[in-house]
Amino acid sequence: MPVLLSNRYGGPCHICLDLFIKRAEELLCLAGLEGHELSLLLLDDPAMQEINRQWRQKDKATNVLSFPQGLDDDFDQHPMLGDIIISIDTAHQEAIDRGISLHHHLTTLLVHGFVHLLGHDHERSDHDAEEMFGLEHSYLQALATRRTKMVKLAINVDHVATLRQARGNTEPDPVTAAAIAELAGATGIVVHLREDRRHMQDRDIDILRKTVQTKLNLEMAAAEEIIKIALDLQPDMVTLVPEKRQELTTEGGLDVAGQIKKLKKVIARLAKKNIPVSLFIDPDPAQIQASKEVGATFVEIHTGRYADASSEEEEDKEFELIATAAEEAYEAGLRVYAGHGLNYVNAGRVAALPTIEELSIGHAVMARAIFTGLDQAVREMVDICRFA
Ligand code: PXP
Repeated sequence: MPVLLSNRYGGPCHICLDLFIKRAEELLCLAGLEGHELSLLLLDDPAMQEINRQWRQKDKATNVLSFPQGLDDDFDQHPMLGDIIISIDTAHQEAIDRGISLHHHLTTLLVHGFVHLLGHDHERSDHDAEEMFGLEHSYLQALATRRTKMVKLAINVDHVATLRQARGNTEPDPVTAAAIAELAGATGIVVHLREDRRHMQDRDIDILRKTVQTKLNLEMAAAEEIIKIALDLQPDMVTLVPEKRQELTTEGGLDVAGQIKKLKKVIARLAKKNIPVSLFIDPDPAQIQASKEVGATFVEIHTGRYADASSEEEEDKEFELIATAAEEAYEAGLRVYAGHGLNYVNAGRVAALPTIEELSIGHAVMARAIFTGLDQAVREMVDICRFA
């Protein structure tokens, strides 16, 4: 067991220990130290303060400490490289301050502690600092499971159809909205054909199939009538969502784990027509594993609870769940989208998550479009994605 992890942190932050261990193992390989051992200890601020006081005469908590096992850097003599100790309390606060996920920051701290174990010390001299930060940078680059392009933006035009249906006539037309959104920089159009046809109509998706220039993502329940329509329409992709008649909008993620057999069949039927499937799921590891099992190509992580959070603390907690779920899904080989309830204030933080490929946004953009015009509203959201 090359990486020995002891988790003595008992606080509320969710840490994906498997991914953290995997990063540490990758780091050993990158340094050419496969076969060596590394000890990792996660704890809270009071415990970190105690260690810092006892061993470094500094009576305060800190983010990361490393204690090498040997006195020299002849690693052949001692397979155990040493201990890296991280305070999750401090790491969490730093991640919030920097607007990054805890998982991302833990990787940075792990690399910093690891490079110390290799014998580098930024406090020794400017030259050492330069060398150490250069090495850290190259390890972080090599470890990065980053998408290389900016996050894409798919616009959901259901709300345009909702307004039309309020009068039961022909305007505003979601087909026109889709074209304007594409011209303004959207890289996909999403439409939800509900069984009750409360907004999108069959006529809409038929025309959109012929006119959308980017990517048509048909959101739908795994219901036989709609599956047949999808097989016939052949959109660029399908997103399966749970659907309840009484709900105002999609309320929760799909319970993939609870309907493995059924979803496997639906996904296989769509695959025969070359239609890749995304599953709209809550940020829950069990749903991610199940999504992989049933053969989904994508997952769309439900951001609704993050968007609806009523305090900063709750928002941070929900954000961490999304960040970790995105990493887990990416590591499992799924392509990762996110959406629901995102707006001009809260979307940037999600867009900045490196493993998220696309955001799906409807309501906030249409709400702004009433005042600014759709072109402007889409452009502003594209900018948020571009600069995240
Ligand atoms: N993703 C899915 C699966 C949805 O059901 C919806 C709502 O239609 C969205 C994204 C977009 O949510 P919002 O309209 O709140 O931006």
